[in-house]
Amino acid sequence: MSFVVAIDGPAAAGKGTISRAVAAHFGFEHLDTGLLYRAVGARVLAGGDPVECARGLSAADLEAENLRSAEVAQAASRVAALAGVRAALVDFQRGFARGAKGAVLDGRDIGTVICPGADVKLFVTASPEVRACRRFEEQKSAGSGDSYDRVLADVKARDARDMNRADAPLKPAADAITIDTSDLSVAQAVARAIGVIAARR
Ligand code: C5P
Repeated sequence: MSFVVAIDGPAAAGKGTISRAVAAHFGFEHLDTGLLYRAVGARVLAGGDPVECARGLSAADLEAENLRSAEVAQAASRVAALAGVRAALVDFQRGFARGAKGAVLDGRDIGTVICPGADVKLFVTASPEVRACRRFEEQKSAGSGDSYDRVLADVKARDARDMNRADAPLKPAADAITIDTSDLSVAQAVARAIGVIAARR
């Protein structure tokens, strides 16, 4: 039996950082499920059909270099609203969760749809302004020229699309524990997540 940790939340709330730290701490495998939607989004930007791209996705596609751009993020959240795309990606995610002794999956619907029986469910969030500020700093150090206002508008647009879609909308599972990272350092947020998981093992 594998031990599954589901970590959901909006963009730039700290899910990725917490997930990687938790996986390293407990020796679990980690899947960033946003990369699946980003890989489909990138292929659709190149002219592909969304559902066919999702059906044909392989682990190697998650290594592509351009998946972190703001353009691909928006394309990802558009294809993520399509039920056919989401359905095509379910088996890959569940297979990953089953295949490891311990697995951390982070995304938007892990605790609600993909792994409703997860051993631990965390909902990691922060205010839109704090999240936009983090994304802005990240992009600035990567050499991107978007203004803070533009990044904030992007964050809010993606939140709205992710929370209001009919299929698997972004929301905390009823049994999720929320960690608001707005006023936490990375070390504090990671320590809180590790504490919750350690108590359930
Ligand atoms: O987490 P990340 O920002 O990489 O996700 C990109 C987009 O993929 C999200 O805005 C969301 O629309 C979609 N996504 C999803 N379900 C997941 C993971 C990501 O709908 N489990």
